[in-house]
Amino acid sequence: MESKHLEIIYQESDYDELDAERKRLYDAALAASGHAYAPYSHFQVGTAALLKNGEIVMGNNQENAAYPSALCAERVALFAACATYPDIPVLRLAIIAQANGEVKESISPCGACRQVMLEVEQRSKMPMEILLCGKKKVKVFKGITSLLPFTFTADDL
Ligand code: THU
Repeated sequence: MESKHLEIIYQESDYDELDAERKRLYDAALAASGHAYAPYSHFQVGTAALLKNGEIVMGNNQENAAYPSALCAERVALFAACATYPDIPVLRLAIIAQANGEVKESISPCGACRQVMLEVEQRSKMPMEILLCGKKKVKVFKGITSLLPFTFTADDL
C-alpha cells in the first residue's frame, strides 16, 4: 500500500489585517451571531455570505425543542441566499461563534454544512472563500475543497 500526502493551504491573519470587504463580512457574521436562536446549546453561531451582486445575506443557528429540527448558521445563510438569489454566485462566507457573551476562537463548520457549501460552490461555478473568524485570528480558505477534500457531488451519481 502506498502512503499519500494531502496538504491544505490557508491564510491566517488578525482582524486588523483584513481588507475592508472582509472586515465588513466579519462584522456582519458577528452581528448575526448576536441574534442566533440557541436557547438549548447557548452556542451562538453567525454567518454572512457575500454575493456577487454585493448583497450580504446573514444567518445564525436556529434551534428547536425537537433538537434534530435545528439548522446550523451556515445552512441558514446559504439556503436563504440561494432562495432569494438563485443565480447569483456566493463569493465568500464568514463564520463566527460566541458563547456566554464571548467570541470564540475560530470554529470549523460541521460535515453537513460543508456538503451544502460544496453544492453552493458548484452552483456558483467558482470557489467560495471561507473565513473562519475567531476572537483574535481569522483563517481564510480559498474554497470548500480545502475543508472537504474528498467530495461527493452530482458527478458521482
Ligand atoms: N452550529 C452551527 O450553527 N454551525 C457550526 O458550524 C457548528 C454548530 C450550531 C448547531 C447548534 O445549534 C449549536 O451550534 C451547537 O452545536
